[in-house]
Amino acid sequence: MSDGETRKPLPVAVLISGTGRTLKNINDRVAGGRLDVDVRLVIASTSMATGVQYATEANAPSRVLVRKDFDSDESYSEAIFAACREAGAELVVLAGWLKLLVVPDDYQNRVVNIHPWLLPSFCGQGYYGHHVHQAAIDYGVKLSGCTVHFVDNEYDHGPVILQRAVPVSHEDTADTLASRVFEAECEAFPEALQLIAEGRVTMAGRIVQVT
Ligand code: GRF
Repeated sequence: MSDGETRKPLPVAVLISGTGRTLKNINDRVAGGRLDVDVRLVIASTSMATGVQYATEANAPSRVLVRKDFDSDESYSEAIFAACREAGAELVVLAGWLKLLVVPDDYQNRVVNIHPWLLPSFCGQGYYGHHVHQAAIDYGVKLSGCTVHFVDNEYDHGPVILQRAVPVSHEDTADTLASRVFEAECEAFPEALQLIAEGRVTMAGRIVQVT
């Protein structure tokens, strides 16, 4: 029997703030037998996040935890990671999550994010969604893409796991570029999650190795 047949799916919690498209992509991959993760919990930072319905489709419990109900980023993060721990999540997946998190010791290098750009440019607070793509178009770049990275306590800063580039044309708008990057994201994020689930991702400092 191969490792693939004996290995249990990696228990994950997925955190969302927006449409939940990224969560839906994860669910579709799991349903198609192409991603060995078990979505144990979905946490939304707002009750407006439509992704909560995708959680139901994945038979995952969901919770809404709103930043303004907490005094600080620390207490907010504590509540979120306590819920992840309770759900048995070994990896926390930020899938369009927009709030700052303070990662506790037991979740260091166990939180991953996807950013719709090639880090380390066009990133940090305020660079999300269309703001990123508009900034890239205004700058006149010829390449865009996405980055899957581990999360530390700064926006878009942790070690890079995987990047995918896409071309930018002079005819692109923020909308056309966003859809091209999102297509790349839909391949890159599950690929990175699968590598982690297979135990093939190791780190030396901020250098990530895939074996
Ligand atoms: C993606 O562009 C991703 O790069 C970023 O959030 C977007 C997905 O959000 N982190 P959503 O799934 O549409 O809410």
